[in-house]
Amino acid sequence: MSSSKKIAIVGSGNWGSTIAGHVGEKVLQLQDEYDQQIVMWCKEEILDDGSKLTEVINEKHENTKYLPNKILPENVLAVPALDEAVKDADILIFVIPHQFVKQTCEELKSKVKSDAFAITLIKGFYVDEETNELLLVSEIIKSTLNIPCLSMMGANIAKEVADKVFCEATVGSRDSRHSEIVRQLIDRPYFRVRFYPDVEIIEILGALKNVIAMCAGFADGLKAGFNTRAAILRLGFREMINFCRLHAKESSPDIYLESCGIADLIASALGGRNYNGAKKMAETSRSLEDIEREDLNGQLLQGPGTAKEVYTFLKGKNLLDQFPVFRDAYLICQGQVEPKQLLENLTHHPEYNEK
Ligand SMILES: NC(=O)c1ccc[n+]([C@@H]2O[C@H](COP(=O)([O-])OP(=O)(O)OC[C@H]3O[C@@H](n4cnc5c(N)ncnc54)[C@H](O)[C@@H]3O)[C@@H](O)[C@H]2O)c1
Repeated sequence: MSSSKKIAIVGSGNWGSTIAGHVGEKVLQLQDEYDQQIVMWCKEEILDDGSKLTEVINEKHENTKYLPNKILPENVLAVPALDEAVKDADILIFVIPHQFVKQTCEELKSKVKSDAFAITLIKGFYVDEETNELLLVSEIIKSTLNIPCLSMMGANIAKEVADKVFCEATVGSRDSRHSEIVRQLIDRPYFRVRFYPDVEIIEILGALKNVIAMCAGFADGLKAGFNTRAAILRLGFREMINFCRLHAKESSPDIYLESCGIADLIASALGGRNYNGAKKMAETSRSLEDIEREDLNGQLLQGPGTAKEVYTFLKGKNLLDQFPVFRDAYLICQGQVEPKQLLENLTHHPEYNEK
């Protein structure tokens, strides 16, 4: 790795633009160690007025579509060509919606430096159709690009981070040199980071919380009592932990009490994108596809896709009965059961058979 390390942000949505700005400001204080330009890959879009999104970002220093009214530092450069954006990068920060990860990594094959490393901020995973095992974003990046991949998740609603409102995040890393670089680039008085070796569990928690946040939205849309809403979150969180343990044993149970665990779930269940979409669905009976298409200005809901992957995985393992909150979340998204079924099924949760 060269002494002046180059950083590329792979993605330029709401979170991608925010983190590009965050890192862009940070490297200005680290001039000897980091290249001062942050290259942000931006999938080109023509805006309503006919202008190109990359040109608008580079002229106005604002992502008017995905992060409006937030000025980005001038050292963030939006680049429409993916291979050009990652060329010579030592650190690749992946922050695109998870459904585009495989295709994006395929396009990047043999185009990244062999001694680079990646970190994924992406919430979501796949289930391998042949093996019915989880296929994590970090694993896809690692195996396709042949570089190490860390993960960073937490209660990080982009707009609040862009406003410099205090938050924290959990980083999964097994290499102290990489951890130090991430600390240098991300840690600030209003954005504190903590490290664990559990790259995969951190990532799985980040994906799963979107599904349980939807369940909180269904419950709120149905005007369930506070006790019931709290029960949904507790039982959902229990299912998140049990699901992680199907994949790997955690280095310490404390990981679930970190920002990537309980804190991200609380933040998302208070009013995140997936919560709001689910609440609207329960209130109006509109489908989630319709809400995503009509109300979100191009932003994507991660919860329904993750609910499907989780359902497929659990069904393949014959474990759906052990995870009724995840099961019902998927069936509601599909329109196969009414949201109220989620509340009615709580009384039979397997948690009550144990104690
Ligand atoms: N927004 C947040 O507050 C937040 C916080 C933490 C983590 N995340 C996670 O970060 C990831 C990215 O979310 P976001 O909020 O930055 O995105 P977003 O939903 O705001 O934007 C959608 C992005 O997808 C891109 N896109 C569309 N088609 C594409 C394609 N074919 N290939 C590649 N990219 C394509 C668009 O260019 C746009 O940048 C998600 O996994 C999300 O869960 C988001």
